[in-house]
Parts: sequence; C-alpha cells; structure tokens
Amino acid sequence: MNNTDIIITYEKQITLSNCISPPSSKETVAEIIKGITSTPRYIPTRFFYDGTGSALFEKITGLPEYYPTRTEKGILKENAPVIAGNLADTDIVELGSGDCSKISILFDAIPSERRTGICYIPVDVSRSAILKSAETLSRKYPEISIHGMLADFLKHLSNIPSKKRRVFCFFGSTIGNLDPAQTSHFLLNLGILMRKGDQLLLGFDMVKDIVVLENAYNDTLGVTAAFNRNILRVVSNLISADFDPEHFDHVAFYNSRESRIEMHLKALKDLEVESPFLSSGITIRKGETVHTENSYKFTRPRISVLADEAGLRLDKVFTDDNHWFSVAHFRK
Ligand code: SAH
Ligand code: AVI
Repeated sequence: MNNTDIIITYEKQITLSNCISPPSSKETVAEIIKGITSTPRYIPTRFFYDGTGSALFEKITGLPEYYPTRTEKGILKENAPVIAGNLADTDIVELGSGDCSKISILFDAIPSERRTGICYIPVDVSRSAILKSAETLSRKYPEISIHGMLADFLKHLSNIPSKKRRVFCFFGSTIGNLDPAQTSHFLLNLGILMRKGDQLLLGFDMVKDIVVLENAYNDTLGVTAAFNRNILRVVSNLISADFDPEHFDHVAFYNSRESRIEMHLKALKDLEVESPFLSSGITIRKGETVHTENSYKFTRPRISVLADEAGLRLDKVFTDDNHWFSVAHFRK
C-alpha cells in the first residue's frame, strides 16, 4: 500500500505516509511521454506542483486578478460558525490541501478545547506543500493531530485512514481541473467510500463574465505564465528532456462551449526535443501548442447533478454576493 511511513518531528510528531511511486518511475515517465507525443499534445495537470509550482500557485492566490481564493475564503469566513459546527471530533480529510490556509479559517472558528478530538489529514501530491502546511498548523493548533498523505486523490482515496466520522474538504475548485468523466468517476468513488454521517465540503468556481475569467488566468505580473511554463521544467527533469520553457508562450482563454478556461503553451519556434525515453526526438513546430490545464466553471444545476451522480445529499450551497464561487456541503 504505502511506500514509506516517515515520522517528522517539529514541536510534536506528525506522520506522513507516501502512496506515490518514485518521481521517475516507469508509470510516471510513460504518462508524460504519452501526453507529449499525442495529438494534440498535453501534460497532466498534477505535474504543475513541484516545490516551485506550489510556491507559484501560492503567489497566484494573492494576485488581484485571481478572485477564486479570496472569494472562497470570504465565504468560509462568513459561514465558519455554521460550517465548523460539524467538525468537532472528526477526521478532516483535505484533498489537494496546498497551503492549508482555508482549513485554518474553519479551525479558528472552533474553540481550542473542542479541537482536541480532531485528526487533520492533508492529502496532496506536493511534498513541500504538505510539509510546510503541517509545520504551520502544528504550531498554530498543537491540540490537533496531523497525518499527512503524499497521495494522488484520483488513485489513493481508499488508502485514507478512517477511524472516525469523516469530513472531506476539497477546496479551491481543484475539482474543475478534472475533465467531466474524471469528475464523475472521482465523485462516484468518493460517494462509495463515504459512510452514513460523513460529509463533503466542495469548492466550485462558477460560470461568470468572460473578462473576469480570462483576466484571472492572464495576470499582468505574469505569475500564471511562469506557473504554466514551470510544468515544462518539471516534466523535462522527470524524462531527462531538454524542453526550454522560455521557447513557449503562455496562452489562456475561456472556451464557452465547454465552460472551461484552457491553458496551453505555444512554441515560439520549431523545436527538437530529445529524451532517452523517446526512440527518436520529437519535433514541435512553431505555433504548435501543448495543453496543460482545463479549469471547468460550474452552475448551480450542475452541482445538483454531481451530487446525484455521487449518491450524496446536497445540504446547502454557500456563496458570495456576486455568486462567483460556491462551497457546497454534501452529506452521505
Ligand atoms: N486547496 C488549496 C490548493 C489548490 S491548488 C487551495 O484551495 O488553495 C491544487 C492542489 O492540489 C495543489 O496543492 C496540488 O499539489 C494538489 N493536487 C493536484 N493534483 C493532485 C492529485 N491528483 N492528487 C493530490 N493532490 C493534487
Ligand atoms: C488549482 N486550480 C483550481 C487552479 C485553477 O484556477 O484552475 C490552478 C490555476 N491555474 C492557473 N491559475 C491557477
């Protein structure tokens, strides 16, 4: 099941289990080669998040154009007393936990004596994100036990420990980075895994004005462009290739038909890419694109459909005044 179990000591012990195959495993290499040799070319989104990618994403969350983070945090703050009322004496599993700043909003709303029975389980593919956030949280909330999981939420849901009633949190609209078939499959699996009384808090970025959407992925400081290009550096290292991120332009636009922002990298000139894992080099022509991310945007009816597909009851949808973002509360 898990490759390793490491115990790390800060002010107290935090356990970290690792379900992920080593970075340059055959499986990982095959996945990357398949994507970059496909037509059209693509790179799976989870490769954004090495240490640099996680740090760049954190920078994105503070940009004026990137409304999702501050809007979701505003919703969580405004409704924290109601939402946090369900969290005492549970195992809180946060999928794609990142910097854990959203769960802190909920922890702050629980009196410290009632936090004692909580076990917090951050699940992320980014080792740096888990370690950094576990350290912060263990300092801020010493009474909460922390069990980090270096795991892929698409593959390792069944490895998540279940001792108590569980509350799954999946913030940031990271669900929007899955395609509709993956979303259905993921929610179906999660719905099967959840037991009666378990809960799910799920963040959704909503369909809105196209200018607002496109600006959020084309910030003036170029942080999103750097985040997009960084994925080439990550996969280059993993397959020992010689992609130069600077030979690609960042492209992001809203595809209204699919209700999604698409991010691509566009070759600025003809390029030959070599890797020991490629039988012959690949040629990427000037203007050709590599698809790096989809970020689906949702509507209220779509959220109800997803609840039905997962066999979950949609209890409440918390939103902001503009209805730009929603945090949906589901129960099994
Ligand atoms: N929840 C945080 C972070 C969102 S960024 C927030 O709302 O701000 C997306 C996070 O999901 C990153 O930390 C990334 O490392 C993680 N992630 C992406 N794909 C993943 C996967 N397949 N399994 C586990 N974590 C994943
Ligand atoms: C993590 N995820 C929900 C972000 C998004 O908005 O799709 C990732 C991101 N990509 C570009 N900017 C932010």
